[in-house]
Amino acid sequence: MPTLPNPSTHAHHWRIDPDIVFLNHGSYGACPLPVLEAQRRYRDRMERELVRFFMLDVEGMLDTARDALAAFVGCDAEGIAFLPNVTQAVATVIDNLELNPGDEILVNDHEYSACISTFGRAAKRAGANVVRATIPFPTKSSDDIYNAVMNAVTDRTRIVLLSHITSPTALVFPVDRLVVALRAKGIEVLLDGAHAPGQIDLDVRATNAHYYAANLHKWPCCPKGSAFLWVHPERREGFEPLALSARAHLDRPDRDRFRCLFDYIGTDDYTRFLAVPDALEFMGSLEGSWDALRARNHALALQGRTIICDALGCEPATPDDLVGSMATIVVPGVGLASGGTSPGGYEDPLQERLVEDHKIQVPVWSLPSQGRRLLRISAQAYNTAEQYEYLARALKQELSRE
Ligand SMILES: Cc1ncc(COP(=O)(O)O)c(C=O)c1O
Repeated sequence: MPTLPNPSTHAHHWRIDPDIVFLNHGSYGACPLPVLEAQRRYRDRMERELVRFFMLDVEGMLDTARDALAAFVGCDAEGIAFLPNVTQAVATVIDNLELNPGDEILVNDHEYSACISTFGRAAKRAGANVVRATIPFPTKSSDDIYNAVMNAVTDRTRIVLLSHITSPTALVFPVDRLVVALRAKGIEVLLDGAHAPGQIDLDVRATNAHYYAANLHKWPCCPKGSAFLWVHPERREGFEPLALSARAHLDRPDRDRFRCLFDYIGTDDYTRFLAVPDALEFMGSLEGSWDALRARNHALALQGRTIICDALGCEPATPDDLVGSMATIVVPGVGLASGGTSPGGYEDPLQERLVEDHKIQVPVWSLPSQGRRLLRISAQAYNTAEQYEYLARALKQELSRE
């Protein structure tokens, strides 16, 4: 067993295996113990009197959670639908679109595969087409992103899917600027903010996107299966979930229809949403404020990137202003096609060697459209600079053997 670097003094709040250097907060988040404990208390309340909980209590409790979330992400609570994850939030938006034959859906080569697949299926059914813009990586400035997207727009473009922060390349997209330009052409915008809340100071309403989907189980460290979709007031009328609630037929003068439709989509464990305010409060307390936590994580992501780039003798792939709390480094070698090519099921055998031989969990994957082999680091409250130094040494050793 190699001698591992220490995580930060905050690490005891998490259940993360001490025998792993965990540098992949980005993929699934990680829920701190006090938040799991809060969720357990909501579960206890649910299980003590299930009928009362589901019929009388949960609605008001969800309202309270939604108010706290709205304040955190900067939008009106009325437009927020709690959903289990961004995959389903994006599918919900697509299901509400009326696509026509010949319509174009514009994505790009940094978007998350599930979102592209769901758009592909909807396009096929409607006789529409998915167009994929190529955004160069390494990326010199936000203009590279803006120009690549806008150059792919045609007079048939109906909707554009844009990550706020991309998954493989950890790029913060200039979404405000893009939404202005796309709206001016009458094009709808769906922002995929899976990584945005908790990494950047988010103002969902100010993006002015038609739809904003985001995960809460990643950077705000809420329980798994907590995400939201915000729908702009101009698209809210008639907007529906994928499955209709047992309350969908009710006429509720006391309650907005959007809320009735999205609040109770079948029997489920809604405690993950109820614990959202607890997670926001807990994470915000770690460094004194959310601003302080985000600033710490951003600085650590940049420091980690510098440590690795210096060790490998490569340049950072993006300017600092396109980085949040994750950073992607282009590593030597050819990026393999996705799908789990190493015996352990990881996309790249290098990731497997880092896990098995060095006890480091960090994703090594690819941008197949550009043949790049990528490594993405995350920086969360429990990480330290020593962990990236340890990763840099392991990487150097492993790459020299290839
Ligand atoms: C940019 C992006 N969009 C969507 C998703 C899907 O999130 P989920 O698995 O929670 O549905 C991810 C997951 O990592 C992502 O990185």
